Amino acid sequence: MQEEPRIEELRRTLHDHNYRYYVLAAPTIGDREFDALLSELVLLESARPDLFDPNSPTQRVGGGFTEQFEKVPHSSPMLSLANSYSSEEVQEWADRIHRESAGATSFTCELKYDGVAIALQYEGRKLARALTRGDGTVGEDITKNVRTIRTIPLSLPADAPEQLEVRGEIILPFAAFDALNAKKKEKGEKLFANPRNTAAGTLKLQDSGEVAKRGLDCFLYDVQLQTAEKWGVQGHSDGVRAAQGWGFKTPLVLGRAFEVAKDVEEVMAFLAHWDAERHALPFAIDGVVLKVDRHDQRKTLGSTAKAPRWALAFKFETEQGLTRLNHIAYQIGRTGAVTPVAHLEPVPIAGTTVQKASLHNADQIALLDIREGDMVRVEKGGEIIPKVVGVVLEERPPDSVPLVYATQCPDCHTPLVRAEEEARHYCPNASGCPEQIKGRIQHFASRRAMNIDGLGSEGVEQLWSAGLIRDVADLYQLQESALLTLDRMGEKRAGNLLSGIEASKQVPFERVLFGLGIRHVGETVAKKLARHFGALEALKEATAEALLELDVVGPVIAEAVVDWLGSEDNSKRVESLRASGLQFSVAEVEQEAVSQVLANKSFVVSGVFTVPRDELKRLVEQHGGRLLGGVSGKTDFLLAGEKMGPAKREKAERLNVTVLSEAEFRTLLAP
Ligand code: IVH
Repeated sequence: MQEEPRIEELRRTLHDHNYRYYVLAAPTIGDREFDALLSELVLLESARPDLFDPNSPTQRVGGGFTEQFEKVPHSSPMLSLANSYSSEEVQEWADRIHRESAGATSFTCELKYDGVAIALQYEGRKLARALTRGDGTVGEDITKNVRTIRTIPLSLPADAPEQLEVRGEIILPFAAFDALNAKKKEKGEKLFANPRNTAAGTLKLQDSGEVAKRGLDCFLYDVQLQTAEKWGVQGHSDGVRAAQGWGFKTPLVLGRAFEVAKDVEEVMAFLAHWDAERHALPFAIDGVVLKVDRHDQRKTLGSTAKAPRWALAFKFETEQGLTRLNHIAYQIGRTGAVTPVAHLEPVPIAGTTVQKASLHNADQIALLDIREGDMVRVEKGGEIIPKVVGVVLEERPPDSVPLVYATQCPDCHTPLVRAEEEARHYCPNASGCPEQIKGRIQHFASRRAMNIDGLGSEGVEQLWSAGLIRDVADLYQLQESALLTLDRMGEKRAGNLLSGIEASKQVPFERVLFGLGIRHVGETVAKKLARHFGALEALKEATAEALLELDVVGPVIAEAVVDWLGSEDNSKRVESLRASGLQFSVAEVEQEAVSQVLANKSFVVSGVFTVPRDELKRLVEQHGGRLLGGVSGKTDFLLAGEKMGPAKREKAERLNVTVLSEAEFRTLLAP
C-alpha cells in the first residue's frame, strides 16, 4: 500500500511541472528529470490499477478511443459575439454601454483566437467534462481528446473552487500546423486547409493517441459567472488572473494580450497595436474581443438570444492584394466538373506570393463582371486557395470585353453542359476526355485508394503521353521494357512502379471500390457498401431501394452507383481488373457477419485487453452486436478490460449493465 502516497505526490509534482513547462514556458527541471518522474509514475500505476485516474499526468499521451461523442446539454448557453468592423462601430457600442450602465465602465481587451470553443467542467477540482459548443445549447463530450492538451489542467490546486466551469478556445499554433502539413506533403496526402479546421477535425478524431501528437493548445477566455460570483470575483479580469493561478493558460502569459482599458481611447490603442502586430503571433487570431469587465454591469446589460450585449468582437480586415488578371483558364476534374482559374500577375498577400486564384463558377464571374486584363482584388481568407473578390472598374482597360465563358471542354472540345440546378459546367465526355481519364487514373493510384507508390500526377501524365495507358486497367498490363524507353525512367524507377502496381492487387475491396471513382462515392460510402454487400457482384445486383437502406446512402448516391455499375464500359473495366487479380470481395476476416449470436445486443468496450481493443470491437460487430461510445441505459454489456476506470464500472452496475471480462466474452462467442 506504500505506493499510494507516492503516486499522489508524483501526480501533483508532474502536474506542476507540466504547468511550468507548457503554460508558463518556464520549466524548473530538465526533460530527463521529468521523464524519469513520469516513468516512475507509470510503473507505480501499473502495479495499482485500483488507483487509476483518467486525470493522471500519465494519461496525457491519450490512447483512449471514442466511438461516438455523447451529446450533453451546456450548463448555460454558449453564445456567440456581435461583430464590428470599424472604430465608429466600437465607439457606438461603448457609448451605449456608458448610457446603460451605472458608474464608470472599464473594458477588458483580449485577442479573438481563431480556433474551436470549449467548455471545461471541473468537479472536485478534477477535469470531469469537456464539451464542444455544438449548437450552443447542447455540445459533444470530447473529454478524452481534450485531456491530451497539455495546457489544460487535469487537476486544480487546493485554492481553486471545488466546482468550476471555464470556457476557452482550442487552437493549433502555426508551428504545429506546418509540421503536420509537412508530414502530409511528404506522404503525398492532401494538405490541411488552415489551423482552425485542423483543430476542429483533430478534436473529433476517435483516437485520442493521435490527438495527443498534434500539438493543440488552449487559451482560457471565460470563468463562468456562477463560479465567479461564489468565489467573490468581481470582474472578468479578476477571474482571468485567478484562473492563471489555478493552472490555466490565459492571455496573461503573452505580452499585452490582455488589458483592462478604462476608456475608449485605450481600447482603440489596443486595436491599433494588434492590427499591426497580429502577424507576429505564433497562432491565428481574427480580431479582438472587448468585454465589460464588471459582472454587476454585465448583468444589467444582459444578452440577446444570440450574443451578450456586454461584449463585442472587432474583426480585422481580411488580407487583400491588388493585381492584374492575365487570363482565365479552365480545369477539368475527374468527374468532368469545370473550374475556372484566374492566372494573375504574382502578388504578395499575407506572407506568400499568389499567382492563381479561384473564380468559383460562371455565375460568380458574371455577377462580379470579371474580365481578362482587369485589375482585381484577391483575398486570402481561411482557405488555402485565394479567391478573386472584386474588380477595380476605374482601372479597366478601354479595349476590355466581357468574358465569354467556355462553351467547349478545353481538352476534348466537347460542348459543355450545365444541369439546371447546378452552378457548375461539366464536360459530358466521360469516356473520351483525356483530362477526365487522367484524373481518374490519378485518383485510382492515390494513397487513399490503390496507393500505387511512384504514380503521382506527373507519372500519369508521362505514361499517358507515351500512349502506355488509356485506362486504369492498362496499369496492370505495363511491361518493364516499355517503361524503360521513357525519359528519366531507369531500372530502379520502373521496378518501383511495377512493384507498387503489383502490391496494389492486395488492396482491400473497399479501397478498390473507392478508387473506381464512382461519383459521390467517397471513402466512407465505399467502406459501408463493401462491408454491407461483401462483393461487387452482390452490389451490382442491388437495386436503388436496397442501396437506400444504408444510412450513408441517399438518392443521389444510389443513382450514381446503379448507373456506374450498369454501364457496359465499366463492366469491361471491372472484368479486366478482376482478371489482373484485384480484390472485388471483402476478405474473409473482415466479412460483415460471422454469426448473429450478439444480434440486438449493444456493447461498450473499455480498458486494456490481451489483444488490441479494436480487435474485440470487430468481433462484436462480426457477431451481429452494436458498439456504443459510453455506458447508458441502452447498454447491454460492458466488456471490461484492465485499467478501466472505476466510474464506468459503478455506472454499469447502477444501470444493471452486465459486466463481462474478456474470457467471459469469448465463451459467449464460442460456447
Ligand atoms: S467570449 C459570450 N472571448 O469567438 C461570449 N470568445 O464569435 C463568449 N472566441 O464562440 C465568447 N476568442 O469561441 C470570447 N477572447 C475570446 C474569444 C472568443 C475567440 C470565440 C468563441 C466564440 C466565438 C464567438
